[in-house]
Amino acid sequence: MAAAKTALFDPQRNTLYREDYRPLDYKIPKADFLIDLDLEKTIVRSNLHVVRNDGNTQGGPLVLDGEKLKLLSLRIKDDNGWHELDRSEFIVTDKNLIIKNPPKFAFDLEVAVEINPSENTDLSGLYASNGMICSQCEAQGFRRISYFLDRPDNLTKFNVTMTADKEKFPVLLSNGNGTPSITQDLGDGRHSITWRDPWPKPSYLFAAVGGDFKILEDKFTTMSGKEVDLRIYVQPGYEDKISWAMQSLKRSMKWDEDRYGREYDLNCFHIVATDSFNMGAMENKGLNIFNVSCLVGDPATSMDSDLIWIEAIIAHEYFHNWTGNRVTLSNWFDLTLKEGLTVLRDRQFTEDMHSEGIKRIQDALALRTRQFAEDASPSSHPIRPDMVEEFNNIYSGTVYQKGSHVLGMLHTMMGEPTWRRAMDEYFKRHDGQAVTCDDFLNVMEDVSGLDLKQFRKWYSQSGTPELSYSGEYDAANKTYKLTLSQETKPTPDQAFKEPLPMPIAVGLIGESGKDVPLLTKEGLNMGTVILILNEASQTFVFENVPVPVVPSVLREFSAPVKVVTEPSMDELMFRMAHDSDSYNRYEATERIMVTELSRLIADYEAGKTLALNPAFVTAYETSLSNAKDGDLAFNAMTLRLPAEDIVTQGLGVINPEAVEAAFKFMRDDLAGRFKDEFMDLHQSLIAPVGEVYAVVPEQVGRRSLSNACLPFILSRPQNDNFADMKYAAANNMTEEYGVISAAVFYGDAANAKELLSRFYDTHKDNTNLMDDWLSLQAALKVEKPYEHLQQVMENPVFDKKVPNKIRALIGSFVNNNQTVYHAKDGSGYKFMADLIIEMNDVNTEVAAGFSRLAFSKFKKYSPDRQALMVEQMERIMAVPTLCAGVKDIIGKALDTAK
Ligand code: ARG
Ligand code: ZN
Repeated sequence: MAAAKTALFDPQRNTLYREDYRPLDYKIPKADFLIDLDLEKTIVRSNLHVVRNDGNTQGGPLVLDGEKLKLLSLRIKDDNGWHELDRSEFIVTDKNLIIKNPPKFAFDLEVAVEINPSENTDLSGLYASNGMICSQCEAQGFRRISYFLDRPDNLTKFNVTMTADKEKFPVLLSNGNGTPSITQDLGDGRHSITWRDPWPKPSYLFAAVGGDFKILEDKFTTMSGKEVDLRIYVQPGYEDKISWAMQSLKRSMKWDEDRYGREYDLNCFHIVATDSFNMGAMENKGLNIFNVSCLVGDPATSMDSDLIWIEAIIAHEYFHNWTGNRVTLSNWFDLTLKEGLTVLRDRQFTEDMHSEGIKRIQDALALRTRQFAEDASPSSHPIRPDMVEEFNNIYSGTVYQKGSHVLGMLHTMMGEPTWRRAMDEYFKRHDGQAVTCDDFLNVMEDVSGLDLKQFRKWYSQSGTPELSYSGEYDAANKTYKLTLSQETKPTPDQAFKEPLPMPIAVGLIGESGKDVPLLTKEGLNMGTVILILNEASQTFVFENVPVPVVPSVLREFSAPVKVVTEPSMDELMFRMAHDSDSYNRYEATERIMVTELSRLIADYEAGKTLALNPAFVTAYETSLSNAKDGDLAFNAMTLRLPAEDIVTQGLGVINPEAVEAAFKFMRDDLAGRFKDEFMDLHQSLIAPVGEVYAVVPEQVGRRSLSNACLPFILSRPQNDNFADMKYAAANNMTEEYGVISAAVFYGDAANAKELLSRFYDTHKDNTNLMDDWLSLQAALKVEKPYEHLQQVMENPVFDKKVPNKIRALIGSFVNNNQTVYHAKDGSGYKFMADLIIEMNDVNTEVAAGFSRLAFSKFKKYSPDRQALMVEQMERIMAVPTLCAGVKDIIGKALDTAK
């Protein structure tokens, strides 16, 4: 990638290159910390045992990372014992502490620094939230706690002693083994505890927490019979809403033993919830820290989908203990090594716990919306980027979701037994090491015998491959020829693309609607075969095909690609009715809706009167009349209108008014045409009297289908009272939220407002539900949207500094009020630019996220809108203190505008 480096070099931006990776000159195998915790004045005293790294024969300066630290003292221990370092012996900059001439080979360094957790609104490093103190070190937060070699290839054994005021911080936690209830009284109203982590780890896995918590305790006995103390810590008010989380943790621990043979390795496992967190959760060794929204929930206050989500995040963080912690990564460019792999593992877990088919469709949809859009944006990057401006910006759909699907393809090509053997070997070979994606792939190759040379291109090539297909039946010879082709369009980061190897699951459906048995090398296969496409175009010939067939391509979403072939309406309807693969049955249904919506959008733009195509109405009616049978969760997905992103991806230029009009027209038309059917279906799905709520496929499916009817029912003004009645009757959050969200999105605004104030009164003490309330408020269609937003922001439940709050509000405002956001006068763009500039000084990760939300799709809009967006982006770029994260996103967007 050397050529790319010179071509794209831009001194304005601080680009780092993967090829510049060099091993460390020094390492810190052992470090002791003494942390005196305080909201405003925390003192961190570290004793670092530093040694020269293998291969460093020259010695040379020791360069430690450190940011926003106030250096109090610096001592070194060499042959003559401890001594204070003279001013001339070190250099402090805003990024580093450099010891110019350290003693030979090994020495101890004692550094004391002061930090102010209350001022840390960036939430990276040590920060205060609601009276507690907690840490977030991934990717580069530890350097805001102590001067250190803050890189994942530096593995250290940590001992952490914490001291603090007993009353304010009765609980003091860090990584490793310890008994949190046994602290040492220091006499002066303060206490102390020591945590020892026997496992060497990179600093990004360090965690420290202090606060007053309610605790839920449990135990887990591992496969070799060791007992582990499990504890979940939450701030008062949530203690009765964490048993789902605890059960999820135990299921995760058991599953990782059963499916991967992985056992837990400390005597305790702790989870802490915090209100203020930049992402979902963090896998710190033995002490996971969670965004409260990903941990706290019960049936009364969380939807089915929230509970399944909480369970998945708990599993994800727990699984990192092996994929990430025991085997870690050697540099941040290889982030997908642990994230892609752990997302794959949490998907397998959710498939095993719930409905495999539904999880597959949902994950495919997540990729096709979020990640395909990223691949098409100015910020496109491969799953293992070669250059990065801000590591926080690669916690992306590409690194996580696409990374997991790339591994999913490996799993498909290897088969489960070989995959498991290869994973066993990976843990065996690399336990305790910091490794790269290439190391991982080497193990996969060695164990499976597959040649992964071409497959490795998935790691270096960005962009979404487009898959097309065409088939031909030869009646005389009873053969069917299927031609598969792939093409990846250039992306802003990479002009040239090569064909990639991909497993394409294919079935051939005969006239009867049944799959035709297929003869392959492995023998007779009754349904689906996996074809490996590794060239730009390849033709596969099936023998002994007795009848003409309809091809079903990319079953189970077997590769992270976009299918661009548009089958006829007849073929789609046939597949919608008969495809034995649920993903492709869903895809056919979705495609029918997307085609119809795209046509309506075009008609609207051409000034035509909108009308539904009779063939579409027939297709929809078929789904609706079959909705009571089979998998209800699946049926719910076929009734809902598709994600707006899936529709707009296929458009050259997005015209927000036309998109909104087309969706509204389709919804209203179907709602009127099938009013009795929707009502009957909804009413037939009421829970049986006395049913005990449970997150089981049968109940989840029923509630999901029942909710899928509501947009069509509540968009009819005649049904305002029905909304009130249903809202009052709801006896779990899935029902309650189903009603209120449909009322907000599709119902009468005055009525929705009234429901929102009832929701507020009942739930104002529940921070997670107030996030939902904020998003619903921002989604309301009101006459003066900015005044309305302003009013909502004045409510005490809102806090600009808490990412969940501002994201809930602003994310919903932009996504759900597209015509307001894209107003022709540019007011929406200006509003977002002002906010990004303001948030740049509060929380850089939030500011970067908003930059993506506001501007990453700007190329998809008309030239006049683009010009208005460019004007605002230039205004943002002119901010002298602009953080690297925003600069990266906006800078790349502006590059594509040139
Ligand atoms: N490793 C965490 C997870 O996948 C993500 C934490 C990243 N945090 C951040 N602020 N960028 O589960
Ligand atoms: Zn993760």
